Amino acid sequence: MEQQSHMTILVTGGSGFIGSHVCDALVARGAVVRCMDNLATSKRSNIQHLEHLPNFKFVPGDIRSEADCKVAVEGANVVVHLAALGSVPRSIADPLASHATNLTGFLNMLESARQAGVHQFVYASSSSVYGDSKALPKREQNIGLPLSPYAVTKAGDETYATLYSRLHGLSTIGLRFFNVFGERQDPEGPYAAAIPKFISSFLGHKPPQIHGDGLQSRDFTYVANAVQAVVLAAYSNDPNCHGEVFNVAFGARTSLLELVGALRNELAIIDPAIGEVGVEHVAERSGDIRDSLADISKAKALLGYAPEVDLKAGLAKAVPWYVKNWG
Ligand SMILES: NC(=O)c1ccc[n+]([C@@H]2O[C@H](COP(=O)([O-])OP(=O)(O)OC[C@H]3O[C@@H](n4cnc5c(N)ncnc54)[C@H](O)[C@@H]3O)[C@@H](O)[C@H]2O)c1
Repeated sequence: MEQQSHMTILVTGGSGFIGSHVCDALVARGAVVRCMDNLATSKRSNIQHLEHLPNFKFVPGDIRSEADCKVAVEGANVVVHLAALGSVPRSIADPLASHATNLTGFLNMLESARQAGVHQFVYASSSSVYGDSKALPKREQNIGLPLSPYAVTKAGDETYATLYSRLHGLSTIGLRFFNVFGERQDPEGPYAAAIPKFISSFLGHKPPQIHGDGLQSRDFTYVANAVQAVVLAAYSNDPNCHGEVFNVAFGARTSLLELVGALRNELAIIDPAIGEVGVEHVAERSGDIRDSLADISKAKALLGYAPEVDLKAGLAKAVPWYVKNWG
């Protein structure tokens, strides 16, 4: 344990939404954290509060460059690979960009990690790999056909990681995140995620736009739960986890209409006028899954994952941050 707390951990995408929270948790645990990012979709202000610490270092770098990956990984015991271009619609609009970062960049980092002899490679996959499978809840072994280039990249990442585990004995652990939300998730731009976009609309007294009827459902996962899974995976010594992928979610299903209702209630406490703001229904989006709900029993059994924060409690933590920073 003593030795583990002094591990050097490379977090790629470390200044991003999930990555910056992962850096917080690893630094607090005493790890030496190297954060690599090219700031493509994040701001350095997310990690500003860590930059004065002796056990934290920001390393600017691009995972599309093999040379940058080699420099970043040197001397690291563990890699937490989160850098990617998120968003299903972005990948449909520009599949080459998503491929270059999410697949070629992923392979650059995986190969650099193997060559550097890292002992654990934890990486972000996505619930999007369940694609057109209608089965609920989603179980790790039953994936469908991808519905977007983004899903293709994440499924390809899993295939490469599993292969490296079998072929080279590199211990890889894939985490399929389900709709993660919380403080620092960017509400701006065309590819922003639903929760920050909805909050930002409400704060501007504008009806949030819902694609389709709003009855589609998601397993919304507060960021602290996702971070818990990443930390457990980074420090796991269980050989049964090697080469495996795990659902990381809360394990409950909420429709978009229910979500918007919960957000409106939370925000109306701060600004009662928001209680009167409705919703605007717009055209359905291609590439989206209709319903999503994770079976999280595998992560519970093998990683010891125990999500503590449900949607309501997570919104109560996240909303004040948006009001302070974007209100
Ligand atoms: N947020 C979610 O709900 C969710 C769901 C499923 C999977 N994921 C995955 O989790 C990971 C983290 O996502 P996030 O929500 O924190 O998004 P984010 O956009 O905030 O973080 C991604 C980070 O990667 C960095 N990055 C992008 N391209 C890079 C490159 N070429 N080189 C170096 N850094 C680069 C970005 O600047 C950013 O800091 C991603 O792999 C994403 O696909 C997220």
